Amino acid sequence: MLVTREEMAFDFQGARLDPVKDKDVIVWAVQQFLYGEITGVQIGHWLYNAPDLESARFLARQAVEEFQHVGNFLRILEILGAPPDKATWSVRFLATGLMGGDWSEHVALEMALGEGLVLQAFYAMIDTVDEPEIVAILKRGVRQEERHVDFGEQQTRKAIAGRPALRRRLLGLALVSLWGVSRLEAFMKKRLPMDHPALKRLPDLVRHAVRIAELRLMRIGLTEVPISSLSAGRKLALIVEAYAGKLALGLLSWVLAVLLLPLRLVGLAGPKRLTDTYLSDPLIVRGGRLGPGAEDDPGDAGEQAGPGGTSAEHGAAARA
Ligand SMILES: [Fe+2]
Ligand SMILES: [Fe+2]
Repeated sequence: MLVTREEMAFDFQGARLDPVKDKDVIVWAVQQFLYGEITGVQIGHWLYNAPDLESARFLARQAVEEFQHVGNFLRILEILGAPPDKATWSVRFLATGLMGGDWSEHVALEMALGEGLVLQAFYAMIDTVDEPEIVAILKRGVRQEERHVDFGEQQTRKAIAGRPALRRRLLGLALVSLWGVSRLEAFMKKRLPMDHPALKRLPDLVRHAVRIAELRLMRIGLTEVPISSLSAGRKLALIVEAYAGKLALGLLSWVLAVLLLPLRLVGLAGPKRLTDTYLSDPLIVRGGRLGPGAEDDPGDAGEQAGPGGTSAEHGAAARA
């Protein structure tokens, strides 16, 4: 990742969350995460639209991992003695309503930025929840989430290379997402018990997470100067340009869809997919095989295994 674990770390000053006394707040957080993992179904859309074989292989593996995480969070709820329940409106909107409009938006906003913010929340749980099995389950999951964020960062870099207008559009959209996240700080200050040693630190965690996300955007190359140094007018101009660009692209693709409908009905003029491009795909061109580096990682089988068994066992336990 372009931002290290050390940079992302937040100092809770030793404050902990007790699985019995603080059960309600931990359960609430896990129910939100569970919804986030279920949105792994959206990977099916991106797999169908993957630009190359390498990305398709990554997404196929990511889908498996996200559904392992569903099992992980069900197991955590079982440990806490709580049932799965609906996520809040805002989480459902952020995870589903703001789904990227194209590949560059998906990798930049959902994977690098969105999964980066969720990763920060997972680290916070690992650092505070005072229950060893829950922490062990979360630690196994974050290794995979780190790979998802890394993929998002690298793919965003690739997408924006030589495309300054796309770079500005993604930055404008990212600013809106970050503004939404930063609103949580004031909300938490009002709603959380400020006499609780861990919970009173959450507004500061939000501010830290936004600062880290801004650093990530800068290292990806979406901005050359720190976002904090951009004036309000410059930010507004970027946001207006981003949404105007989205609107123009949406209209253009609608017009093209109507005009090209007759051709598409007979299988012509549709978007190019891997079934059209695989023979010239870089992975295949490199000697006609995927190569040893692309083989399944032998460590994967144990990735989800821990003292309590494999993820399949965890999942089975959760379903039992
Ligand atoms: Fe996940
Ligand atoms: Fe993920």
